[in-house]
Amino acid sequence: MSLRDGTPYSGVLIAVCGLDGSGKTTQVNLLAEQLRTVGPVSVLRPATDAIRFDQALVDYRNGRLPPDEAHDMVVEMPLMAAADIFRQMRTTILPRLQAGDFVICDRYVYTSYARAHARGFHDQEWLSALNRYLPVPNLTLYLDVRPEVAVNRVLARTKAPKWEETDLDRVSGARSAFLEQPWGRRDTYRVVDAERPVEEIAEQVREIVATTLGLTFGDPIAASSP
Ligand SMILES: Nc1ncnc2c1ncn2[C@@H]1O[C@H](COP(=O)(O)OP(=O)(O)O)[C@@H](O)[C@H]1O
Ligand SMILES: [Mg+2]
Repeated sequence: MSLRDGTPYSGVLIAVCGLDGSGKTTQVNLLAEQLRTVGPVSVLRPATDAIRFDQALVDYRNGRLPPDEAHDMVVEMPLMAAADIFRQMRTTILPRLQAGDFVICDRYVYTSYARAHARGFHDQEWLSALNRYLPVPNLTLYLDVRPEVAVNRVLARTKAPKWEETDLDRVSGARSAFLEQPWGRRDTYRVVDAERPVEEIAEQVREIVATTLGLTFGDPIAASSP
């Protein structure tokens, strides 16, 4: 098994991306339920807790770092995200893919890219080089909502939001990047209108996954009974 050699795998990697509050976790869980009718599913969440509670990162995301430190922290964060995702890729994601699972990632490296652009860091060549050995997902679903919708959903959650999740300029910058894909457009990156009822979005996600991967889903209720 090797990331650096691009060793092939028999599983399928699906990335679900979008702004905080766009409905990723909701849709990932629904899609996982559907895919379990076809085969084994692993749901993973980059970034892991190894970086999520890093004090400088938390301070940055709460708008509490002094400006000169914040300026360089913008370079540090994609490095932390890359180290974290490579670690998770080597230890968990790639082995699951090689075992033949459907692996659904709740976020992927595109989140790190979109955030970097929103923070005013546009050196995509460096970002892409840093992440060169990560596999390109078989399918990436970008759940698109307007910034104000994402912010309202984040504010409505019980968990206290970070400043960066509710700052409209930041959130708009990230959305623009997710839509424009300065990392390079691909046919396997699909934009889904996520300002609709949960079930309607789930239906479109199922359809995209079924047609892109050539799958026929079973009945999730039958699949979960003993
Ligand atoms: N299609 C939708 N319409 C309205 N509210 C939604 C929708 N999808 C998710 N939500 C709600 O919005 C909030 C954020 O959803 P979540 O799935 O946690 O998003 P994310 O994982 O992208 O941050 C949650 O409270 C969730 O119940
Ligand atoms: Mg989530």
